[in-house]
Amino acid sequence: MQTDTLTVTSSTSSYPVVVADGALATLPQRLGALGLQGRVWLLSDTTVLPLHGAAVVAPLRTAGYTVEPFAVPAGETSKSQTQLDAIYAWMLGGAVERRDVVLALGGGVVGDLAGFAAASILRGIPVVQLPTTLLAMVDAAVGGKTGINHPLGKNLIGAFHQPRLVLADTTTLTTLPPRELCAGWAEVIKHGVIKDAGLYTELQNLAADYCHPAQAAQGSVVTWAAGDPRFSAIIRRAVAVKVGVVSRDEREQGERITLNYGHTMGHAIEALAGYGTLLHGEAVAIGMHIAARIAASMGICDLGLVKSQRALLHAFGLPTSLPAGLDAQALIALTLRDKKVQAHKVRWVLPTTIGNVVIRDDVPEELVRAALRS
Ligand code: NAD
Ligand code: GLY
Repeated sequence: MQTDTLTVTSSTSSYPVVVADGALATLPQRLGALGLQGRVWLLSDTTVLPLHGAAVVAPLRTAGYTVEPFAVPAGETSKSQTQLDAIYAWMLGGAVERRDVVLALGGGVVGDLAGFAAASILRGIPVVQLPTTLLAMVDAAVGGKTGINHPLGKNLIGAFHQPRLVLADTTTLTTLPPRELCAGWAEVIKHGVIKDAGLYTELQNLAADYCHPAQAAQGSVVTWAAGDPRFSAIIRRAVAVKVGVVSRDEREQGERITLNYGHTMGHAIEALAGYGTLLHGEAVAIGMHIAARIAASMGICDLGLVKSQRALLHAFGLPTSLPAGLDAQALIALTLRDKKVQAHKVRWVLPTTIGNVVIRDDVPEELVRAALRS
């Protein structure tokens, strides 16, 4: 089991991150080992609870835990004050205590929402993240960012609340729709580009083996192969990048900004296209391509990197072109609303070589416009 476990060690906390096939079966002993013996408030969504709830509830009840399950509607709109209030009413109505624990079983939506409920109820109770999407495994479940959306913007209300444990059972990915899986691969590829050239090479090898010839006309999709141990190994390697970054920079004072590679333009594209039109990972893939083009035009990276990254994104079923009809000037205006803007300057994360990025706040607007046109 030890080799499946990574550890986040920051200035304020330390917790295990486990990535393994069948990991959910080990949950009761892991909670016990952490001294978490109170009631279990299992938060999930209406898609995930019927699919994977039993794998959590059954072993916990067998081990003597009292489990209270609750599902919010699946989808981004649940990251709302309305659903947060419903969770507070459910937990306070059920006499939640500080010794209890919240389990977040689902994708990033459930993780962020349940994490924020746990951060705020009774001034904070423990949370354990049980991610079931690839995106949540490699990104959202690790690092303690929790929150909800506000009518004025995404993720604007929230708190840092580190989980006591992250348990990613990779068998849950077998039920994930292919488009959601591909969206998660964008963040895996991102981790290779920003920090781990070896991971990037492994992804190239995996793509070569698993490209689906039947789908080549639309851009081939890498489908999940249950039982191929390389998948969980690659996911663990991508998680290791996040674990390292948040251990060194828990509160995003510096290095953590690099995790936003592709997100400056990605968030703008997501917002302008209309939330739900593109999945987050799809918008990030386009954003990564644009960032790489900007870097090449500034002489920060060579054109070979741009082409290689584009080929890899395509191999994993991801887009690199803007959806039709998006206005470049409106996109550029939206990048100025990025949470990383400082003194009205956009801080771009730009690749230098595979595995290395720099942060630049001196990107001429004309180069951004040119990258959007190309
Ligand atoms: P999601 O949670 O909406 O999940 C995507 C869809 O897949 C949902 O319909 C869900 O019901 C379904 N699903 C989840 N697991 C499934 C499974 N195993 N089988 C079948 N269906 C399944 O979306 P997501 O992409 O996981 O997360 C996106 C959210 O994560 C956004 O709100 C984003 O802001 C947030 N996020 C947070 C962080 C962070 O650091 N906290 C980082 C990245 C993203
Ligand atoms: N997803 C970016 C971060 O956790 O900082």
